[in-house]
Amino acid sequence: MKKFYLTTAIDYPSGPPHIGHAYEKILGDVIVRWRRLQGEDVFFLTGTDEHGQKIERYAREFGKSPQVFVDEMSARFREMCMKLDISNDDFIRTTEERHRKVCRDIFRKVFEKGDIYRGKYEGLYCVDCEAFYVERDLVEGKCPVHGRNVERVEEESYFFRMSKYRDYLLEFLEGNEEFVQPEVRRNEIINRLRGGIKDLCVSRSSLEWGVPLPNDDKHVIYVWFDALLNYVSAIGYPGERFGEYWPADIHLIGKDILWQHAVIWPSILRAAGLEPPGKIFVHGFVNVEGEKLSKSSGVRVDPLELVDKFGVDALRYFLIREIPYGEDGNFSESALIRRLNNDLANDLGNLLSRTLTMVEKYFGGNVPDRGDVLAVDRDMVRVAEDTVREVGDYIDNFRLGEALIYIWRLISRANKYIEETSPWVLAKEEEGNLRLGTVLYQLVESLRLLAILISPFMPRTSSKMWEQLGMRKKFEVLDGKEELVWGRLKPGQRVKRGENLFEKKENGNNEK
Ligand code: ME8
Repeated sequence: MKKFYLTTAIDYPSGPPHIGHAYEKILGDVIVRWRRLQGEDVFFLTGTDEHGQKIERYAREFGKSPQVFVDEMSARFREMCMKLDISNDDFIRTTEERHRKVCRDIFRKVFEKGDIYRGKYEGLYCVDCEAFYVERDLVEGKCPVHGRNVERVEEESYFFRMSKYRDYLLEFLEGNEEFVQPEVRRNEIINRLRGGIKDLCVSRSSLEWGVPLPNDDKHVIYVWFDALLNYVSAIGYPGERFGEYWPADIHLIGKDILWQHAVIWPSILRAAGLEPPGKIFVHGFVNVEGEKLSKSSGVRVDPLELVDKFGVDALRYFLIREIPYGEDGNFSESALIRRLNNDLANDLGNLLSRTLTMVEKYFGGNVPDRGDVLAVDRDMVRVAEDTVREVGDYIDNFRLGEALIYIWRLISRANKYIEETSPWVLAKEEEGNLRLGTVLYQLVESLRLLAILISPFMPRTSSKMWEQLGMRKKFEVLDGKEELVWGRLKPGQRVKRGENLFEKKENGNNEK
């Protein structure tokens, strides 16, 4: 069975999870659910990044010890995953001993190889990014990512000879078009690398909250060196499972942490004698009502509140549908309500309820025989088959929003098919019963395919549909490749119309 290993970034539990964290986990979840449907053996990892100065500082602000603070906060990230129906196979915390041990082992390995040396660091540090900067990196004297003040740091440190890996990295990135996606992000990294890279400071001696160096316990390992290693510690480096799943197929990350993943991480792996990951997919940021999320400006929305208010699938659908491939996008409640009312309640929800109502009314709830097909029926099948083909390609290329657009084309085709064939007219005609059977078979079959196609995006809605369609086979044991074929629906199967898939919401902005 093909193995597929996908990771998200591990989040800083310096505060509760925000909608950007939710977005990334949902992206990953859609991809892995699709892969599982293809019969692949998936390992899906997420977790929390719990060391470093930022966490130590926030813990102090809350008057808590860093350990108590991260225990509480990390639990909220885990809760977010559960409430968002994220199907992660593990949740790694960098304060766990299984991770700390791997950190020390790999640090020692790189040190013994001669790629880590002792020196003194003098420069600038942004606590929010946990990153070192020099004057020319700054924008108007502030951190280029957060726009916050940076701090001057001067301390004894250990350095990783990253500069030694520049040529290797350039060659690797230039020769491997798919390594960083989208393309514009890959070019960004290649250009920065051409400008040269410096060695990386990989220890902090002014900080206690971290993993002590194996060779010098007055220092802790720099939080990024520590955090990146979660991708191998979680799969039990250097054990059997590591052998099976490494290299990871996909690291899913946001645009602000590309350098760490495309440059620092492959250099560490190379130094440790390990293979680089397969691909890095870089998503954009979710803004809220046009504003960047930020602790200081107070712009944030709680993804868990949104789940309570609108339902998990509406939020999952909205974020995937609305944020364009690799770019920033905007969240607003009114836009979410618009999508919920139109795309979900009207287009999809009504298609299911109209169809099942007719099967119950005209055929006592039993799926009729397909009978003879006409041109209009064939066109419906053509659209369904196209959709099945295209959706897979779009998902494999990280174009998840476009996959949804394709799925909605099938939904619209089915809704139009109802208008074209007017089943209620056929029902009144004496001769109409055979034709009516064909029409309803076609509709139920489209809904069966739709239930499978939307399952990575909206697992709950999919299983509600599955149940109402009266499918006998359990969804969990479904072989997507086998089932995503038109015509597998068995006549005679008993459908049962249930509650509406989605309830419409009033839009406060009076928008339709
Ligand atoms: O960077 N929209 O943690 P983090 C979308 N611990 N994604 C966003 C976002 C937004 N508004 N804000 C942040 C870290 N993200 C490190 C990662 S990995 C070994 C260590 C994304 O909590 C961000 O780009 O600041 C990153 O991919 C993830 O959320 C965690 O961000």
